[in-house]
Amino acid sequence: MTARILDGKSLATTLRAEIAADVAALYQQTGIVPGLGVVLVGDNPASRSYVTAKEKACTAAGIHSTERRLPASASREDILAAVHDLNGQEPIDGILVQLPLPDSAIEREVIEAIDPAKDVDGFHPLNIGRMVLGLPAFVPCTPAGVIEILRRADVPLAGAAVVVIGRSQIVGRPLSILLSQKGVDATVTLCHTQTKNLAQLTREADVIIVAAGRPGTLTADMVRADAVVIDVGVNRVPDSSKASGYRLVGDVDFEALAQKIAAITPVPGGVGPMTIAMLLRNTVNAARRRRGEPA
Ligand code: GUN
Repeated sequence: MTARILDGKSLATTLRAEIAADVAALYQQTGIVPGLGVVLVGDNPASRSYVTAKEKACTAAGIHSTERRLPASASREDILAAVHDLNGQEPIDGILVQLPLPDSAIEREVIEAIDPAKDVDGFHPLNIGRMVLGLPAFVPCTPAGVIEILRRADVPLAGAAVVVIGRSQIVGRPLSILLSQKGVDATVTLCHTQTKNLAQLTREADVIIVAAGRPGTLTADMVRADAVVIDVGVNRVPDSSKASGYRLVGDVDFEALAQKIAAITPVPGGVGPMTIAMLLRNTVNAARRRRGEPA
């Protein structure tokens, strides 16, 4: 069997066009232009390229974006001041602090400084708590993108056995909560580095979502032929044939899996573009809610 390739890039293009039309209509009806403020600390090349991609996508959708770029040496106070400044800016509806920060020990404090009404990443405890309770909340963008891919591909989730590999605060853990919620109704197994018999669990899964941050985490011997695999990994591996000196690979053994299973997302061109589309959607929703328009 050759797997169906779940093309996140093309789906994201469709969604971004829908969002751009929505932004144009919002402007025509109300004069509102949604605004996103991005805080980037240090010069991690991957973070810089993600931030550039997010800002470009905003511009293309008609969303205003502004960046606060701080050096890697920025103090905790400097970073908090940038967040407080954006909290106080009326035209800014969404705030995103690109992670990881050079000093990961202050990430929680920085995230908790973001006004929850502007927390378009959905990382603030208030939004996480509301999400866990099934209340309206900003939902983290990558988990939202994964679920959108599965829904638009008509992958049945109600009652399905879904294995999530990776328990990060950004992807694995929120995804496990969203998938098990009423209305989605998957049976979720959240796996991590201490999981025993990972292959036994993945062989029983209808859907496997891999967000482990390690190439080769899922191999063809670990899956059934009717499985659907979503690869959230983005890893840079050295490649001297590329001008950049590296190529991007996911967390799964794509070539071998694509020969065996029902459907799979590629890297690049799978989940990544969907994360950006979901960020735009959250920013437009933030603008509507903050300014008293129906979301
Ligand atoms: N770093 C990796 N993914 C993300 C994300 O979705 N949001 C932020 N702010 N940082 C990230």
